[in-house]
Amino acid sequence: MDDPLGLDGKVALVTGAGAGIGAACTLRLAAAGCAVAALDVDAGAAERTAAEVTGNGGRALALGVDVRDTDGFSAAVERCRRELGELDVCVNNAGGMAGHPLKRFLEVTPGFVTDAIELNLSALFRCCQTEARAMVERGAGGSIVNVSSLGGVRAVRGVTAYGAAKAGVINLTQTMAIELGPHGIRTNAIAPGTTLTPAAQDQVGHRVEATAAANPMRRVALPDDMAGVVLFLASDLAAYVNGQVIAVDGGFSAAVGVQPRSRSSS
Ligand SMILES: NC(=O)c1ccc[n+]([C@@H]2O[C@H](COP(=O)([O-])OP(=O)(O)OC[C@H]3O[C@@H](n4cnc5c(N)ncnc54)[C@H](O)[C@@H]3O)[C@@H](O)[C@H]2O)c1
Repeated sequence: MDDPLGLDGKVALVTGAGAGIGAACTLRLAAAGCAVAALDVDAGAAERTAAEVTGNGGRALALGVDVRDTDGFSAAVERCRRELGELDVCVNNAGGMAGHPLKRFLEVTPGFVTDAIELNLSALFRCCQTEARAMVERGAGGSIVNVSSLGGVRAVRGVTAYGAAKAGVINLTQTMAIELGPHGIRTNAIAPGTTLTPAAQDQVGHRVEATAAANPMRRVALPDDMAGVVLFLASDLAAYVNGQVIAVDGGFSAAVGVQPRSRSSS
């Protein structure tokens, strides 16, 4: 079998493609043969990822768009359909804590909650609608992968509104799976653990070693650890996987509490 992933010649759109997990997903999908739309609010970053794809011999379109801009996002999807072709794969990755420090529940302000939910849940909800409408209209199925967070699966002190938004992404993913499944559209999510990206450097850069030591794999994740699972979910290998959330966390969430190291484990 030449193309076990079934992605050669397909069209993929990735949001937040200019850095970190989104850039890694874009490069992986392109390496699997997809034409990729690299969408990012930072147009220059989107251009850089697209240039890396074309430099490797792939097809790419850079789109400088904020996912919170519903009309702008719809126009970008239309441009992608015109210039690259109909959407087969969408990775809704743009999000994060937008530089906000961790804040305990009692200290969180209404504006902070609104911002976190707008970026991480409401905007993603609207992007998913736009993508799914295009896929339903075409009638050839597709795969949508949403990037949630381990903070949406388990409570993390200080993560508050961001965690609540990411938990909402999981429920949305499940609802989309059951409503879009009959159209041949699969919807799944990944829940990354701490991953060394530009954003994570700001949040956990000062405690990478401690984070690594607390993980069963004794390291923190790299963006490509996420991209591999996104590629699987996008591919034909996951043809019957729908409505699932895969924690990509080195086994961190498998444990109850902090596990003491045994003498035999290094
Ligand atoms: N890095 C981690 O430890 C970690 C852990 C769990 C979940 N996540 C999630 O993974 C996703 C990617 O995170 P990352 O660490 O790679 O982030 P990052 O900040 O390193 O990269 C995110 C990219 O998205 C773009 N972006 C941000 N807001 C946008 C917007 N409104 N519209 C379009 N593009 C936008 C940024 O310009 C940037 O290029 C986020 O949804 C984040 O919540 C990350």
